[in-house]
Formats: sequence, structure tokens, C-alpha cells
Amino acid sequence: MEMTTILKQAPLFRGLDDEAFQALSSSMGEVQLARGQVLFHEGDAGNQLYVVMDGKVKLGRHGASGRENLLAVLGPGQMFGELSLFDPGPRSATATAVTACRLRVLDNADLSPWLAGRPEVAKGLLGQLAGRLRRANDVVSDLVFSDVPGRVAKALLDLAARFGKQTPEGLVVHHELTQEELAQLVGASRETVNKALADFAARGWMRLEPRSVIILDLERVERRAR
Ligand code: CMP
Repeated sequence: MEMTTILKQAPLFRGLDDEAFQALSSSMGEVQLARGQVLFHEGDAGNQLYVVMDGKVKLGRHGASGRENLLAVLGPGQMFGELSLFDPGPRSATATAVTACRLRVLDNADLSPWLAGRPEVAKGLLGQLAGRLRRANDVVSDLVFSDVPGRVAKALLDLAARFGKQTPEGLVVHHELTQEELAQLVGASRETVNKALADFAARGWMRLEPRSVIILDLERVERRAR
């Protein structure tokens, strides 16, 4: 996809005309990350937000035991890093490149005049915050009410919605995550998550491949996620 099209998907630009889009996007810098590279750590000071242009970024937190939990895996057109701008404080998660990545970056100082002068920009950002709170509430409910296979099914559908490609073979989801990372995203041990995946595969709902799954029976997976 063309870079301008990807950037325009970011909530920041929603509702802006071409001229305003050009002006705001021209104040953004570029960042490249190698696979595995950390962009910022949980607890760092931060005054920039980012839009993913190419590749995937994971947002993770460390528990007291040193175990890691993934809040989200983001792909092209998705934005992160805005919490420390709106609620000045330390970064709430560590951002790490899952694959080689290209990002655009916006300084708080360059964003501020837009927030004051263009309600569309503030509205786009509020929309993203509201959507994320909804999603976070769903995640909490699922942790309380759903079993691990249900959460695995849901996580795969969420990845499929963003990274899935329909092929004659099935819905190919090249998520790029290791089994450990998938477990961190679901909030369960690697063993339990692997067991759930193996069970789905044995039922013929999907085929497992390194860093991807091919969903063969979407309807069953959707039903299991409910
Ligand atoms: P910030 O706290 O600046 O740095 C980490 C970023 O992760 C944060 O801003 C958000 O943009 C993003 N983030 C935090 N929590 C979530 C979540 N639950 N889902 C998706 N992204 C999140």
C-alpha cells in the first residue's frame, strides 16, 4: 500500500483535508527499527507519538516476577505512544520491533497547536483512546470469564482482522510472533496456549506454521472465541 494511504489511516489524521494532512505529516520524522530493537522502555520519559508504516511493533509490560505480558501487537496505520503526551508521565509499556519496522514520529510540541486549532485531530485521538478502553475492558472480562482456548481463538481473530490474507488455502495470518509471544498476548503459559493451538489444529480448524497460522474454519474459531 502507498505510504500516504497508510498514514491517512492513523486516527491522528481522521477528518483532515489534504492540505492539513500535508502540513501535519510534514512535521513528522522517520524512524527505522531492526527486528527485536527496543524503541522505548516502560518507565522512560516520553514526548513523542508514533505511527507504524511498515512491520509490526509489540507493546509489553513486565510483571514483578519478570514475566512479560503483551498489551498489543500493532501494524501499519496504527498509532502508539500518545498516553505519555496526554497524561504526562512515564511510558506505560515497552515498544519493541517484532519485525524490521518503519515508523513516523511526531513531537508533542508539533502536535499541540493542532490539538488547539483543529478539533478533528483531537476527535481522532479521542476516538482511538475510547476504542482502546473498550478493548482493554473486553480483555479484562475475557481474563475473568473466558478459558485459555477461548482467549487464544479471540487473539488469533484479532490478528487475522489486521494481518490476515484470504487465500484459496484459507485465511493466512502471518502474525510473526513466537509461541512465547503469543502466550504473552493471551496472558497464559506457553504450555496451555500450545495445547489449545494443537487442539484447534487436530480439529482441522487451522494449520500451524512458524510465526503464522492458516485458519481453515473461520466459523468454528469465531464460535470458540465467544
Ligand atoms: P505510552 O504510555 O506513551 O507508551 C506505551 C504505549 O502503549 C502507550 O502510550 C499507548 O500508546 C500504548 N498502549 C498502552 N496500553 C495499550 C493497550 N491496552 N492497547 C494498545 N496500546 C496500548
